[in-house]
Amino acid sequence: MAKSEGYVSAQYLKEAAQILQKFKERTYELMELQSGQHILDAGCGPGVDTIPLADYVGPQGSVTGVDIDSEMLDKANQAADVAGHAQFVRHVEASVAELPFKDNSFHAIRAERLFQVLPNHIDPNVVMKEFVRVLQPGGRIVLADADWGTFSVNHSDAALERKLVAFFAGQMRPNGYAGRQLMENLIAQELKVTTLEGHALIQTDPEKTTVGAWLQKTALEAGMATQAEIDRWDGEIKTMQAEGRFYSSVNMVIAVGHKA
Ligand SMILES: C[S@@+](CC[C@H](N)C(=O)[O-])C[C@H]1O[C@@H](n2cnc3c(N)ncnc32)[C@H](O)[C@@H]1O
Repeated sequence: MAKSEGYVSAQYLKEAAQILQKFKERTYELMELQSGQHILDAGCGPGVDTIPLADYVGPQGSVTGVDIDSEMLDKANQAADVAGHAQFVRHVEASVAELPFKDNSFHAIRAERLFQVLPNHIDPNVVMKEFVRVLQPGGRIVLADADWGTFSVNHSDAALERKLVAFFAGQMRPNGYAGRQLMENLIAQELKVTTLEGHALIQTDPEKTTVGAWLQKTALEAGMATQAEIDRWDGEIKTMQAEGRFYSSVNMVIAVGHKA
């Protein structure tokens, strides 16, 4: 079973889907879907999007999810069964760098938070070329991703905050800057960019962010921060949490390209 480089669990993705629900709905809307269309969700994870997308295209159409992680795909297939959509929602094990579909197969394609976990040995342009190949003329590609370089936390030690954010974006994600690159991914394929949006994802609960144990332990082990710095970081966050004044924000980008 292949695990992606910036692996996160199916449970994490389901919890994230609740936080990102409005953002996700915006990506569905931008796909401009109609009943009977055939669509692809690339890097579909446990099917948190393929199931709601099924309602847009209905049983006359189809939703195909593709992912390299068979455990995610098992969960996605179970979810399709439970939703009663198994006949027209399928999940396929494959890499987005080599899609097992014919040219011009889909009316629309979406890829959410795929590019931030793409390992360095996979060229995003190769993936984009595959998307364009399997997309029908007149079709749309909706890309959505975080720009982790914009992650900000209200902390009194701004230098430490910048250091930890740069470490998270640059070292803890295969491509933490994916969000800011989405437009150029489309332009490189000569697609017409029709929409470019940024959505600030604000959190007031540190448990729902990446400021906690994972970041702190990894930064400490990598020698990026001292124990004293981590204690100061964590102590202030815990105080802010207790006093209800924790604040963090990250820019989530959506870019839409049309194939002529
Ligand atoms: C951060 S998750 C996002 C999942 C889903 N799009 C969502 O919004 O919940 C990224 C997904 O991309 C998949 N992935 C990573 N590299 C891939 C590749 N080369 N081909 C197909 N899927 C890939 C991972 O297995 C994972 O399920």
